[in-house]
Amino acid sequence: MHIDILTVLPELLQSPFEHSIMKRAQDKGLLKVQVHQLRKWAVNEYGMVDDYQYGGGAGMVIMCEPLAKAIEELGKDRKYDEIIYLTPDGERLNQKIANTLSLKGNILMICGHYKGIDDRIREHYVTKEISIGDYVLSGGELAAAVLVDTIGRLIPGVLNDETSALFDSFQDDLLAPPVYTRPVDYNGWKVPDILMSGDHKKIADWRHEQSIQRTKERRPDILKD
Ligand code: ADE
Repeated sequence: MHIDILTVLPELLQSPFEHSIMKRAQDKGLLKVQVHQLRKWAVNEYGMVDDYQYGGGAGMVIMCEPLAKAIEELGKDRKYDEIIYLTPDGERLNQKIANTLSLKGNILMICGHYKGIDDRIREHYVTKEISIGDYVLSGGELAAAVLVDTIGRLIPGVLNDETSALFDSFQDDLLAPPVYTRPVDYNGWKVPDILMSGDHKKIADWRHEQSIQRTKERRPDILKD
């Protein structure tokens, strides 16, 4: 998967993908993330990419021209399966959307800033609008980082143990069960006996039961019949 990110603040996205699973994904050649400074397509030599909004009101809007030029130029090198605009009024990100996006080849992400981007870009280029939650960030960069991480780890072959993503919270509309590691007794706090039983069927049933229990208690809204 190739992900291009357009932003006026590439500094914010300098290192999130250089560590841990995202690094491994890139080292394995399964993911490539390229961050582009939108000012490269500025409308003048001062690096202008934003302007006042028509109709008045505080806050700047990112202009059509730099975005359109950037999208057209980057689009010459690769055909995008999705052009995603990160915005609080987009569809709220969830595991199902992440699973779908993890199967795409080329994705372009656009980070808004200030009051956002000129709506004509949303109308004519953007194929998907995503919000990472019902709150407003200063810009789309941290949202883009969240989105890259969420889908990057789901790309087939990225996780060492392919099955581990299957037990993630939300994968079956259930939260993940509790996990434990050594020692078996810490200050009198014991690991549930069943996990030491060696009975894989019983352990799987117990984990499933715990997942249901946790979901009932914490997120009854996602629980199916
Ligand atoms: N940009 C600003 N806030 C955002 C949010 N909650 N999700 C995605 N992009 C954003």
